[in-house]
Amino acid sequence: MCPPTHFRVSYSINPWMNPDKPVDPALAYAQWEDLRDRYRALGHRVEELTPVPELPDMVFAANGATVVDGRVLGARFAFTERHGEAAVHARWYRDHGFTDVRVPQHVNEGEGDFAVTASWVLAGRGFRSSPLSHAEAQEYFARPVIGLDLVDPRYYHLDTALCVLDGGSREPGGPAAEIMYYPGAFSAGSRAVLARLFPEALIADAADAAAFGLNAVSDGRHVLLPQAAVGLFEPLRERGYEPVGMDVAELMKGGGSVKCVTGELRVG
Ligand code: ARG
Repeated sequence: MCPPTHFRVSYSINPWMNPDKPVDPALAYAQWEDLRDRYRALGHRVEELTPVPELPDMVFAANGATVVDGRVLGARFAFTERHGEAAVHARWYRDHGFTDVRVPQHVNEGEGDFAVTASWVLAGRGFRSSPLSHAEAQEYFARPVIGLDLVDPRYYHLDTALCVLDGGSREPGGPAAEIMYYPGAFSAGSRAVLARLFPEALIADAADAAAFGLNAVSDGRHVLLPQAAVGLFEPLRERGYEPVGMDVAELMKGGGSVKCVTGELRVG
């Protein structure tokens, strides 16, 4: 995670960002700290990146890299405003014992568009990550990459419309991965792909998607999500998860919430 010390909305690169609606920096910081402390209270280790003053979107740490089986695929941002973030993330991984860190050839915005299950990498395209990055990720991670077409500009990253609740098992016959998603964010073909791969998925409605309810982080048991996504809490409980509602309203002014500010290291 990266503290929102310099977080502000001074440009607009997604429909949620309105430079005329200023961020309350103290409130954003408090909401971010609350989330960080909640992860720690649940037993997770949280590392902090040092924020850079010229990079106001750095708080959205999920976009900086993707880690699968200890291999790190760095990011290459679509917009110049965020270009500088990629090197900061790559350096962090190199300085913390990750030996396989790839500087990507094609545009990919890290876990914004890559979601990892035990068997696959689900990959978004249409607004940010290049379709060419999907082939690059498949070759590098040696995992099948399933390309999904995003069609609604409000859901410009895969992680705004889909969340892996449980990665499932890689063993044949083992438990399947469980996801939740908002079908309206995807093309008809991609919706059919998701229905085929995840027939039991939790389907979110438009209101919970607009509350950034899919922009959640699950450890397989607890699901941290914006508290405003009220319709998801009961269905999550019915499936055996413990939803943990967070107030991240100030961070949403940048077009992201719980998942966007959380890069997953997946080191067990
Ligand atoms: N302002 C950032 C951008 O538009 C928000 C990124 C949100 N991150 C995410 N993982 N969806 O790039």
